Amino acid sequence: MSRTDKVEHASGYDAELQRLDVVFRRACAVRAGDNVLDVGCGTGQTTRAAAVAAHHGRALGVDTSAPAVERARRLAEDEGLDNIAFERGDAQVHPFRSGSVDLVISRFGTMFFHDAGAAFANLARTLRPDGRLVMMVWQAGNRNEWTVAIHRALGEEVAESAAFSLADPSRTTELLKVAGFVDIGLDDVAEPVWYGPDVASAETWARSFTTTTEVLGRLGPDGAEQGLDRLRETLTAHLGDDGVWFDSRAWIVTARR
Ligand SMILES: C[S@@+](CC[C@H](N)C(=O)[O-])C[C@H]1O[C@@H](n2cnc3c(N)ncnc32)[C@H](O)[C@@H]1O
Repeated sequence: MSRTDKVEHASGYDAELQRLDVVFRRACAVRAGDNVLDVGCGTGQTTRAAAVAAHHGRALGVDTSAPAVERARRLAEDEGLDNIAFERGDAQVHPFRSGSVDLVISRFGTMFFHDAGAAFANLARTLRPDGRLVMMVWQAGNRNEWTVAIHRALGEEVAESAAFSLADPSRTTELLKVAGFVDIGLDDVAEPVWYGPDVASAETWARSFTTTTEVLGRLGPDGAEQGLDRLRETLTAHLGDDGVWFDSRAWIVTARR
């Protein structure tokens, strides 16, 4: 199941990732004075957190989605942050100033590159010597209960998708090495993702994903109705005292230029 971060559901995405975000922030370890670049920043929760931690430093969020960037700007304004900026751009080729950044971060924003080699070379060039890269990426689809359970409910197996393109540790390590990174490490993260406070909101959330819409389309009207009944059963089985949760597995990937 691929995650296209729909702008209207931005706060839903932040809520979904609430447990993973704690791990991500800790790994980023933004220091006062850091100049931070957030790649595929979406609506900018992680950029705002970086700007706050950087104090007199700065945070720049870049994303290809104009509505996401617009929303990110508004949210940063609402928080009164003055050391933050957002640009619409493709991080694969964006002409960032060479050696201008202390830390490149990304929470699930680096898996969608068409040319990952060129993209990571561009990010390495942007970092100052010894600058750090910290990104959170999904492990393989079949290790992620959220996608396995929802696909199964809808009668399909988990399909290959861009969301899992950095799941293979040796391939990702090689990709970063060739791009100019050293000290590459992957740490296993097993934290659940939150789909909403109740089954109805979890269903709305699950149905906001493009892949869910595509599967339902393939099933046709009757099949889709049955699929949705099974989806509600699955969501009910995952409902706890504080909402609907699925297990997830991600990597925190760290490297230095
Ligand atoms: C799953 S969302 C994650 C958003 C954000 N990092 C967060 O955690 O809220 C992936 C984001 O990457 C962006 N994206 C995909 N390819 C990109 C590229 N080549 N350059 C910049 N942003 C990109 C998408 O527009 C989307 O906002």
